[in-house]
Amino acid sequence: MLFKRIKPIDQIIATAEKKSLTRQLGAFQLTMLGIGAIIGTGIFVLTAEAGQKAGPGMMVSFVIAAVVCALAALAYAELASMVPVAGSAYTYTYGVLGESAAWVVGWALVLEYTIAASTVCVGWAGYVNGLLAHAGYGLPTFLRVGPMDGGSFNLLACLIGLAVTFLLVIGTSKSAKVNTVLVLIKITALIVFIFIALPAVKDPNFKPFVPNGWGSPMGGLGVLGAAASIVFAYIGFDAVSTAAEETKNPNRNIPIGLIGSLGVCTVFYLLVSYAAVGSVGAQPMLGPDGAALQPGTPEFAAACQSSQALVCSKEALAHVLRLLHHDQLGNLIGFAASIALPSVILTMTYGQTRIFFTMARDGLLPGSLAKIHPRFHTPHVITLITGTFVSLFGALFPVGILADITNSGTLFAFMMVALGVLILRRTQPDRPRPFRTPLPWLVCPLAVIGCLLLFLNLSEKAIATFFVWGTIGLVVYLLYGYRKSNLARGIESD
Ligand code: ALA
Repeated sequence: MLFKRIKPIDQIIATAEKKSLTRQLGAFQLTMLGIGAIIGTGIFVLTAEAGQKAGPGMMVSFVIAAVVCALAALAYAELASMVPVAGSAYTYTYGVLGESAAWVVGWALVLEYTIAASTVCVGWAGYVNGLLAHAGYGLPTFLRVGPMDGGSFNLLACLIGLAVTFLLVIGTSKSAKVNTVLVLIKITALIVFIFIALPAVKDPNFKPFVPNGWGSPMGGLGVLGAAASIVFAYIGFDAVSTAAEETKNPNRNIPIGLIGSLGVCTVFYLLVSYAAVGSVGAQPMLGPDGAALQPGTPEFAAACQSSQALVCSKEALAHVLRLLHHDQLGNLIGFAASIALPSVILTMTYGQTRIFFTMARDGLLPGSLAKIHPRFHTPHVITLITGTFVSLFGALFPVGILADITNSGTLFAFMMVALGVLILRRTQPDRPRPFRTPLPWLVCPLAVIGCLLLFLNLSEKAIATFFVWGTIGLVVYLLYGYRKSNLARGIESD
């Protein structure tokens, strides 16, 4: 019974066609939405962590993570073009595997969107705190970092989360315009970085290439461990599919937005990581036993205290330029990151509100959450609740832990989408597919295997959090959604 509640895809599309949200986004805005979500803390901040985990081999980690995400994006594009409605992997799973699986995916997407937004709040606060300190206006430690980093409350992470929430409440189109400008700033910063660092690349900086080996399950280190963290740098392309209901001609524009934004970012990341590693080196910090230290531990922090190594930096790209004696450009990159990272927070929070909106419309969450604001035409209640949590998590937790937890939920959702494509090819072979995943019986199984491999190479803590969160979700579903579901009660979602 539990597994029989599959929502017919035609019903999903019909529900969306009642159009509670206005269709106003085109291919360009969608691609910008994707790039806005993708380029962020991953490349600007977590590059250093990847270096500690994999050494120069992190370049391979960037490639592995890109390949896995590209496989997942091909699967996303097929489902997004078939079911061009809000809700992303949650909605697709509802139509393929049924309600309980959809709930689990929706619940996992909270990790992907809300926690990712918090992660970027912390990354942003790191850059801005650095700039403030540089100008002589540094905040005291207790307001600069959360409790696990030796402070109390990361004030700036909290404030940026609240500011973005305000933008989202007052309307998508204004926010999307702001987003486009910020995307251009990020891309310019990366181009400047590549132009300065690339000519400084030297062969010896690539040796030894894989000082920590290839990785081991739940070990977090090595090339695969770094790839599992680097997935964070590519997350965001699927945020495009959450905007499906607000997209003009979604069958054409959603696949363009998904694949286009991922492709552009991959090219930039490969150039940036090659230039960073090759220009200043990326050898890991070693403990007394000669083994690489785990990033995010007190031992690692102590070893880094007076080190100029790339792997120790909290502002990796700015740091590389300073090491190359381009101090002013380094500061400019830091400045660009601090004004542009909010676009990532914006897109992630936006994605989360649209997923919650869809779940509430289906009766799995209280309908009062899906209320649309009479003047701004946005789902303001759910936006305010989501924004509050984004800000609080950002205020209280460190960036590395948040990033790994984000990845656990994301990789799970990617797996479900790839499985969904295969199941629908079997069960509904004749349904129109405006975008067809090429070689699906190769691409989708490879996506599943790739996601599983990276999931297993996350840190133990992230994997444990994922399962605890999943269990809480099942309890909530059994107590609320299972009884209140519109599908179960024969009510058409409105
Ligand atoms: N990919 C996004 C980032 O790196 C989430 O910040």
